Amino acid sequence: MKLKAIGITVALAVAGSAWAATVRDEPIQPLEAAKVTNPGKVELGKKLFFDPRLSRSGFISCNSCHNLSMGGSDNLKTSIGHNWQEGPINSPTVLNSSLAVAQFWDGRAATLKEQAGGPIANPGEMAFTHDLAIDVLQSIPGYVAEFKSVFGSSRVDIDKVTSAIAAFEETLVTPNSAFDAWLKGDDKALNTRELAGYKLFKDSGCVACHNGPAVGGTSFQKMGVVEPYKTASTAEGRAGVTGKDEDRFNFKVPTLRNVELTYPYFHDGAAQTLEEAVEIMGRLQLGRKYSQEEVGDIVAFLKTLTGDQPTFTMPMLPPSSNTTPKPRPFEK
Ligand code: HEC
Ligand code: HEC
Repeated sequence: MKLKAIGITVALAVAGSAWAATVRDEPIQPLEAAKVTNPGKVELGKKLFFDPRLSRSGFISCNSCHNLSMGGSDNLKTSIGHNWQEGPINSPTVLNSSLAVAQFWDGRAATLKEQAGGPIANPGEMAFTHDLAIDVLQSIPGYVAEFKSVFGSSRVDIDKVTSAIAAFEETLVTPNSAFDAWLKGDDKALNTRELAGYKLFKDSGCVACHNGPAVGGTSFQKMGVVEPYKTASTAEGRAGVTGKDEDRFNFKVPTLRNVELTYPYFHDGAAQTLEEAVEIMGRLQLGRKYSQEEVGDIVAFLKTLTGDQPTFTMPMLPPSSNTTPKPRPFEK
């Protein structure tokens, strides 16, 4: 019985390495599921991601604008912040964001941990302060116990909060898309149209910018290389961070993983459909005018990039105590 079990393990290991050897040599690589090393920290980060008490109103959580039931975005042109404020820019997905060179459209945060402190204190988003958010968490016995078990100290601070949120976000990877199956050697994973779309995507040069496991996120590039992009948005892109004129209108190349779920498109959310986004990219970035058929092929390929969405039990948030500062939903 024991010997037989070992025999199976060996056979599987051999099959596994043969499988790995067949990964196709392409500018896009398969996504691998995240390896969780500290489940307690991830669980705490998940609670914080879903907790609206990190906002002044007590109503807005990270999940409000990065809805994990909607591809990690809000599917709005630009986001709605505290007091129904109209946001200045489209909310990018948090799915696979751990794979990006930097965070935000202009890359102003180097890491997920650095990013996570931003929205809490942003007056146009959660409109709180780090100190007040910490006061809230510190007043909730369930949280204090959980911070103690994860970090070994019951003192809650913003460093621990952002570190736990980042640990949760690192698990938001979406492997096993049809395209990944094809990359790993399964010829039947893509149909003729999807494959034609990928060939066109590759041969016309989309992969110069959209490459790597996330099909983007590896560089900052000009929006409007061949033809200028017309927009009402005042976002300047990378120049706002580097102060260099040549970085004007350079944006982080977005990931195209799960792109069928993350409409509308571009930093200003102006392209409503994937067809529109592909047509604009072809024209503005590559000087190509695709036929309707060709646009359809590329869109068919892009839809094969939708992977397994994160699945988990909804977190139960520990209740506030009598001393927890009260939410202020209607206070300006
Ligand atoms: C009110 C809506 C809103 C809320 C709430 C919000 N975000 Fe965001 N998030 C955005 C927008 C809009 C951007 C893009 C901003 C930019 O690039 O200038 C963004 C960017 C990001 C990014 C960068 C993704 C990328 O590809 O560059 C991450 C990661 C992120 N948010 C995580 C969070 C976390 C964690 C929280 C909770 C602490 C949070 N967000 C709360 C709207 C929101
Ligand atoms: C020179 C680099 C470059 C090339 C080439 C390029 N892109 Fe992009 N792509 C970008 C950048 C930068 C953005 C973000 C622009 C913005 O939001 O203003 C983007 C955005 C997109 C988006 C919207 C994603 C989102 O979440 O908003 C899609 C879809 C897309 N590209 C597809 C393509 C396709 C298809 C091609 C080939 C026809 C292509 N791209 C070629 C750099 C490039």
